[in-house]
Amino acid sequence: MITNDILYVGVDDKDIDLFEGQFVVPNGIAYNSYVILDDKIAVMDTVDKRKGAEYLANLEKALGDRFPDYLIVSHVEPDHASSVQLFLEKYPQAQLVGNTKTFQLLAQYFDLNFDNILTVKEGDTLLLGKHELHFILTPMVHWPEVMFTYDSYDKVLFSADAFGKFGALGAKEDWTCEARRYYFNIVGKFGMPVQTVLKKAATLDIRIICPLHGPVLSGDLSKYLDKYNIWSSYEPESEGVFIAYASLHGNTRDAVLALKEMLLSKGCPEVVVSDLARNDMAEALEHAFCYGKVVLAASSYNGGVMPFMEDFLHHLKGKNYQKRTVALVENGSWAPSANKAMTEILSQMKDITILDSPITLRGVMKDEDKKAFEVLADKLCIS
Ligand code: FEO
Repeated sequence: MITNDILYVGVDDKDIDLFEGQFVVPNGIAYNSYVILDDKIAVMDTVDKRKGAEYLANLEKALGDRFPDYLIVSHVEPDHASSVQLFLEKYPQAQLVGNTKTFQLLAQYFDLNFDNILTVKEGDTLLLGKHELHFILTPMVHWPEVMFTYDSYDKVLFSADAFGKFGALGAKEDWTCEARRYYFNIVGKFGMPVQTVLKKAATLDIRIICPLHGPVLSGDLSKYLDKYNIWSSYEPESEGVFIAYASLHGNTRDAVLALKEMLLSKGCPEVVVSDLARNDMAEALEHAFCYGKVVLAASSYNGGVMPFMEDFLHHLKGKNYQKRTVALVENGSWAPSANKAMTEILSQMKDITILDSPITLRGVMKDEDKKAFEVLADKLCIS
């Protein structure tokens, strides 16, 4: 129970191998759905059809002997809307509520009869009884049809994907870490629309946030709103250095591990290192956004850069990566080419400062290389 009238009817998915076909979710994912019980009953979204039967059972239990009047579709992406048909087969009298784009997109997924729909636009309201629902269009957070719904009676914001996280409900993990990995990998490209939404949210008296993934948020909401403000403005969140590397034979790895020790001995508050071949790429992307200073170290390969690094940089570019200071380290025994290849991709991003004097290793780190790394560590500690 979220409030006296709002019940949780979502489901956990702990056996999905990859969320969105690409993201590891070691603690699963929650597909959230809510029911508002009033004179009229509104259901907020469905769930992924992988869990459709379990969802309908939850819903039936919450409804008792009543039937839903409305199904409000905040987001058509299949992790939330792929059970819409199932829902309507069970509750054919329910009216679908969405905006123009909602119905355009739903028609691409289902052969539905759209006779019984309520099309809403920004600022429209729907009175259930005591509860008045206010619709707030939030395009590109994360798809163009996304909308939030604000219940002015209980002061609850139904926030679609925003403020969601990876992890099934009850997962024993920090909100910020998995919310950050979720944010940058799912919504990260759309910082500007998120900023617009935060401005709209600032005008509302919000007591509870009900996202479509992760826990319901209550208490001091400023912590969550502040994180979203930092993330969507692409500002660094933490002091420190992130080092991402792709190493063919371990020599580039050994060099960056030595750099990590140099940085820590010089007082750098935090140094995080990711092996792009072995660690979670989505987590590496999250780290790259978290810190203001990043070292990219990679072996040369095929006249360019090792594919794991190339892939990583394309991920960053796709997520609108910007406003960071980057140092480059390449390794190449006979024709080093990684720094040039990395620079080419970085040059396509906004406000990226590449530090002077990129380092070239020619195999194993030698004493003269150590001096170059000491200079780099000094620069990273000062700038
Ligand atoms: Fe959770 Fe954009 O879907």
